[in-house]
Amino acid sequence: MVRVRVPATSANMGAGFDSLGIALSLYNTITVEEISSGLVVENQRIGEYIPTGENNLIYRAIKTVFEKVGYKSKGLRIVQNSDIPMTRGLGSSSACIIGGMLAANVISGRQLSYNDILDIATKMEGHPDNVAPALYGGFCTSVMSGSHTVTKSVKIEKPISFMAMVPDFFVLTRKSRVSLPETVTHKDAAYNAGHAALFSLAMATGDFEKLKIAVKDKLHQPYRAAYIDNMEQTFDEAYKNGAYAVWLSGSGPTILAMCSAQNEDFEYNMSRYFESIGQKSSCRRLTIDNVGAIVQVI
Ligand code: HSE
Repeated sequence: MVRVRVPATSANMGAGFDSLGIALSLYNTITVEEISSGLVVENQRIGEYIPTGENNLIYRAIKTVFEKVGYKSKGLRIVQNSDIPMTRGLGSSSACIIGGMLAANVISGRQLSYNDILDIATKMEGHPDNVAPALYGGFCTSVMSGSHTVTKSVKIEKPISFMAMVPDFFVLTRKSRVSLPETVTHKDAAYNAGHAALFSLAMATGDFEKLKIAVKDKLHQPYRAAYIDNMEQTFDEAYKNGAYAVWLSGSGPTILAMCSAQNEDFEYNMSRYFESIGQKSSCRRLTIDNVGAIVQVI
């Protein structure tokens, strides 16, 4: 039996569209066991629906690895226990994909490297900014080179907090990507390239005061704002309360704010703000996960 614990992630991080991502301290713990026949999928989280047939994402990820390495399994039992809110922009699908693929790799004799797994996970997910930190942990900058994903992950050791402001509505990445234009101006592309580069360097060196500028984006957030109630107003409020940087997490609807670990009032102040505008949003204080996915053979 193999157990894999995979962290939640926040992708894009402002200007780093489809590139930057960070692992966070919420987890999906997935257990996979070979059985004599059939497929059994169990969800230990009461009240949350997940598909239990062959369309289950963890199962599809396992199958992708088995097909790639030519492994035939008689049957599988998959148990998921996840803290990661689904379809809220916190990498719930990536956690399923990485968890399933790592478990399948162990069951089928560890024929794939982590880089191979990152490549096929990116192909399945469509972009690398969630799957890379789910696998490696820390803060990751990733790019595609042909069919390969090239990523650099750094641990952030300075004490920082991440406030996940999770509204009670959901946004499908598929739908939210449709709102993005096919082409952008050279000026906007150059703007984002520079800002994402500064963001990466400022994060890696702990120069967090620069992030407020570096996080600015012209490629996706302005278009996605239409789907996210009070997005800009919430960004402004988070900055008023001392955030270093605020961004739409993945394709939303969660808004992530990064702030000093000493900023103890942030959560309370933002909860009061959401109450004052009549928006149902839960605020959760998270930390960075510098470890990434952990595999355990039981
Ligand atoms: N980079 C992706 C997007 C992340 O913005 O659509 C969503 O999972």
